[in-house]
Amino acid sequence: MEIYGEISKVRAAVKAWKKEGLTVGFVPTMGYLHEGHKSLIDAARKENDRVVVSIFVNPMQFGPTEDLESYPRDLKKDAALCEAAGVDIIFHPEPEEMYADGFCSYVDMNGLTTELCGKSRPIHFRGVQTVVLKLFHIVTPDRAYFGQKDAQQLAVIRRMVKDLNVDTRIIGCPIIREADGLAKSSRNTYLNAEERQAALVLSRSLKAGKALVDAGETRACVIKSAITAEIEKEPLAKIDYVDVVDFDTITPVEKLEGSILVAIAVYIGKTRLIDNFIVEK
Ligand code: PAJ
Repeated sequence: MEIYGEISKVRAAVKAWKKEGLTVGFVPTMGYLHEGHKSLIDAARKENDRVVVSIFVNPMQFGPTEDLESYPRDLKKDAALCEAAGVDIIFHPEPEEMYADGFCSYVDMNGLTTELCGKSRPIHFRGVQTVVLKLFHIVTPDRAYFGQKDAQQLAVIRRMVKDLNVDTRIIGCPIIREADGLAKSSRNTYLNAEERQAALVLSRSLKAGKALVDAGETRACVIKSAITAEIEKEPLAKIDYVDVVDFDTITPVEKLEGSILVAIAVYIGKTRLIDNFIVEK
């Protein structure tokens, strides 16, 4: 496994692979890798001849009051996980390598990014789209892997790839959870013991919502109320949003029809956590 900080080195390696007719799978990450990331790497490993993982805490997708500085980093541990998982290249650029002096081009979207996380993180998806398209141009992967954990991000990337004719297949992968139900996240490290316990309210509330869906409930407002009521029982929790949207367009729905995303964002203390489930009707 190689660790490259330079775009030119990644390009040269991928070019050589492609000359041999090999396929390339790509997993973009911000590092501090856990089993959620590893599940994407495993899927990429299974379906492609070569696997590239990027580790880059992308400043452009963080708002001015967000956790860019404190975002956890551990390249040594990440490299060990990648090596054991059979990754061929880690791309780990410095911000200056990705954003040269005078940088002023962005990828943006009119739909999909205004609801859910877009409300409290207005510049977030522009930063995600811009860096992901740049990474796609650098790695030119046949397939790229994204977690359903960040369901809105997955929908946004799918839309961007379709709209801008990117020749990469986007593969969505299921949410990996801790044994007690908490969705794995690099940000879980911010939680103290009491908050870690309180954070279980996210998966518990979604379970309550899912039980209603399974029992035949199709009214979005009823599902939202049940989830909200469950979260409000937890004193350390503060709701950012509880929403039911169309998974492709990320627009609110009243009735569950087609591909539906039930998504929540909740502050546990100062830490903002997200979780969701998808219903196919
Ligand atoms: P990061 O938060 O590091 O996540 C990288 C990928 O891992 C994303 O596709 C995310 O959905 C997936 N992932 C995280 N936790 C997961 C879990 N518990 N189960 C399954 N998949 C999980 O998302 C980003 O980085 C950035 O926005 C990025 C796309 C790299 C652009 O900077």
